[in-house]
Amino acid sequence: MYTQRKGEVPLEHYFTNNPYLKSEIKTITYEKENCRLSFKSDNGVFSKDKIDYGSSFLIDTFIKHNDIEIKTGLDVGCGYGLIGIVLNKKLNIKFDMIDVNRRAVHLTEMNIKENKADCRSFQSDIYSNVDKKYDLVITNPPIRAGKKVLEDILINAQNYLSSDGRLWFVMRRDHGVKSMQATLDSYYETEIVAKSKGFYVVKSKIR
Ligand SMILES: C[S@@+](CC[C@H](N)C(=O)[O-])C[C@H]1O[C@@H](n2cnc3c(N)ncnc32)[C@H](O)[C@@H]1O
Repeated sequence: MYTQRKGEVPLEHYFTNNPYLKSEIKTITYEKENCRLSFKSDNGVFSKDKIDYGSSFLIDTFIKHNDIEIKTGLDVGCGYGLIGIVLNKKLNIKFDMIDVNRRAVHLTEMNIKENKADCRSFQSDIYSNVDKKYDLVITNPPIRAGKKVLEDILINAQNYLSSDGRLWFVMRRDHGVKSMQATLDSYYETEIVAKSKGFYVVKSKIR
């Protein structure tokens, strides 16, 4: 994995580990129905200034349409921890939350504490540090990381799912959700559960 040295021109991706990027911690509030949660965010992480619409739509759609009992979840590419922490607080699902970006993992750890969530977070390049199976793998995947990383996250989720587990993800139509659904078809039964503003939420069950 690429590690930036002091003095090198910073890379601009939200998944790049860049310890020299100035820290400017800010607070974002998630507020929906009876749920109010506070998240610390910072430079160098995804959607640092506001809650991402796609992530929020994934959370809402999962809460509305999930129809099986889920006790444990893996939030892949957790950023500052929105998806796993909201679903823990609302549905009591115990999450492991992973990201390749160390700053994101650190923020998630702070946000788990701040919101008293029953979750844990650790750094992992895709599934490199994951050694368990879960009832749910959920992700707003890193489109900018490229097709290989996306396919690795989505196809290999099956290895980290319990026998009746589910993979849920959100992807925009113009980012190729239909062709990804076709790719996943060999491994999963997939279903588009909801669409909004060009974002599609896809639920998948291992074949
Ligand atoms: C679209 S963002 C979603 C962030 C967060 N889940 C949210 O909803 O705000 C995708 C995340 O995937 C992470 N990511 C990129 N490449 C990764 C990799 N190889 N392994 C794990 N996470 C990765 C990025 O750092 C980023 O936080």
